[in-house]
Amino acid sequence: MNEPQDDAGELPDPSRRAFLKDFGLSSLGAVAANGGIIGALQASCANPTQDIQTLGPDATDITLSVNGKKQSLRVEPRWTLAEVLRDHLHLTGTKTGCERGACGACTVWMNGKTINACLTLAVDAIGSEITTIEGLSDGTSLHPLQQAFIEHDALQCGFCTPGMVMSCAALLRDNKNPSIDDVKDAVSGNLCRCGTYNHVFEAVQSAAKNMK
Ligand code: FES
Ligand code: FES
Repeated sequence: MNEPQDDAGELPDPSRRAFLKDFGLSSLGAVAANGGIIGALQASCANPTQDIQTLGPDATDITLSVNGKKQSLRVEPRWTLAEVLRDHLHLTGTKTGCERGACGACTVWMNGKTINACLTLAVDAIGSEITTIEGLSDGTSLHPLQQAFIEHDALQCGFCTPGMVMSCAALLRDNKNPSIDDVKDAVSGNLCRCGTYNHVFEAVQSAAKNMK
């Protein structure tokens, strides 16, 4: 079989260096066609640390709001939000199971969005509004969803429950009439080893009715 040749009758250089060179030139051509991006890249290369705040390795002071209360504390940059909530602010309603984003036991709200507190560094929560299971009720009566979890027997050992409730409460806040599929989607990141899912689905739909 004949090897492909270029116009000058020479065999193409198959080396990785040649590939990168050709690819880089064609990519730069495409970027240039878009206009302005090369200039922005050059500007950021000229001052790579611009707008980047570095923290650590020493402990650093942070301030955040937890359940509506301002909290100022000194944290090591490696500490997760889950550690800070449980071990330093003593809000042990937030559970840690896998500590790698797989079980959802540590679900809290950061600025209203559900997050895994085990995957969030405390320093990344600086200035944020954090809501934990302790902040869901008004302190005197349960949130309707918490009440519905009790009435529908939606917990057994209870270990997954705070995270499950935080995920479902976020759903009910944003969707007054969730379908079963909506509920399943909301708890898709929350694992229950006791298998309470069907009761959780019932509880959420019951709470949705009671909250209308
Ligand atoms: S402990 Fe955070 S997801 Fe499992
Ligand atoms: S109630 Fe036990 S893990 Fe969900």
